[in-house]
Amino acid sequence: MLVLLGVSGGIAAYKAVHIARGLLAAGHDVRVLPTRGALTMVGSATWEGITGHPVTDGVFDAPSAHVELGRSADLFILAPATAHTLARLAHGFADDLLTATALMATCPVLVAPAMHTQMWQNPATQANLATLISRGVHVIGPEAGPLAGGDSGLGRMSEPDDVLARAQELLSPVPQDLAGVRVLITAGGTREPIDPVRFLGNRSSGRQGFALARASQRRGAEVTVVAAHVDVSAPVETIPVESTAQMRAAVLERQERSDVIIMAAAVADYRVAAISDSKMKKQDSLSIELEKNPDILRELVERRRDGQILVGFAAETGDKDASAAEHAAAKARRKGADLLAFNEVSQTKGFGDVPNAVTLLDSEGAAVSSASGTKDEVAEAILDEIVRMR
Ligand code: PMT
Repeated sequence: MLVLLGVSGGIAAYKAVHIARGLLAAGHDVRVLPTRGALTMVGSATWEGITGHPVTDGVFDAPSAHVELGRSADLFILAPATAHTLARLAHGFADDLLTATALMATCPVLVAPAMHTQMWQNPATQANLATLISRGVHVIGPEAGPLAGGDSGLGRMSEPDDVLARAQELLSPVPQDLAGVRVLITAGGTREPIDPVRFLGNRSSGRQGFALARASQRRGAEVTVVAAHVDVSAPVETIPVESTAQMRAAVLERQERSDVIIMAAAVADYRVAAISDSKMKKQDSLSIELEKNPDILRELVERRRDGQILVGFAAETGDKDASAAEHAAAKARRKGADLLAFNEVSQTKGFGDVPNAVTLLDSEGAAVSSASGTKDEVAEAILDEIVRMR
């Protein structure tokens, strides 16, 4: 297959060499489209030596190249995607070979942003990204980690092997077994304010919820994500919330129009009874009264409409009263969702940038199936079960 590899002028441009090599090793024809800035990082001799094709950044160096390449491409990757090149794509610029070809291309587009944290968080960059996502552009990363100039934070390009894995997914035909299905997913951990600067939170990173969103979208679903605090950037347009009350309102408002709802978020069971208006001062000891939050999943089950599938998650550990599996089975019966994905959590599984392992329980607490591996693999297995139930 023909893969176009756009490379824009960030320090991560050297990582695109690994991506080009990986694509070639997988048997693809690779054409590299660097920006002028990227050529100061990795020169055309390198790209030509690796791919065996001439490399230029100018539209007029080969006047019909953007038309021919854009028309015949199976995948367009932009890695690294700088803030500037994302802006040019979002606004439809065609001022070099990369952007002109991107405008011509009708194949899937995958961008791997890389920039400083402030540039990534700037509303202009986020608006450009939202525009691209709304047009179906796929986004991978960025991740948190070391950045150029000795800084560190969110903005580091995803690892080349992850970009390659995502590219391979986009190049493989995916069964559209969720075509037109409206899937609502919650992700991340809710935060309950204590005072203007403090909150009660949990360790959810949003990765499992976002993996479900990615996989649902690839399988043809119309995906909406309600995300509380997350550590990674969203792969689809997301409704941001903070507290359990906000998540409840966002989810219940969308229940009627959703065919499948997956509650992957770690939702705080308690909130602070009296939130302090001013920053609480240091004391020798402190007691904070908590009151119970509403159980969103239970409410969804009570208000469920015909044909709607409700899926919950349960992160469990065992204790002196029962094993983690026994707690999860009891929770499945209590919640009454069609499926409860029970993940036994530990330092190496469950929360954060780690693999996951789930057992899917029915509303009686009986095991239906199980899956383990990356969060993307676990997401696919959960969706397989949902498809079987429909
Ligand atoms: O985000 P990651 O770092 O990738 O981690 C993923 C995860 C471990 C957070 C995720 O896989 C997971 O297990 N999420 C549920 C965490 C949990 O323990 O939930 P719970 O047992 O408190 O709640 C059970 C179910 O009820 C969940 O679907 C939860 O969303 C829902 N719930 C809980 C409380 C509440 N007040 N309302 C709810 O709807």
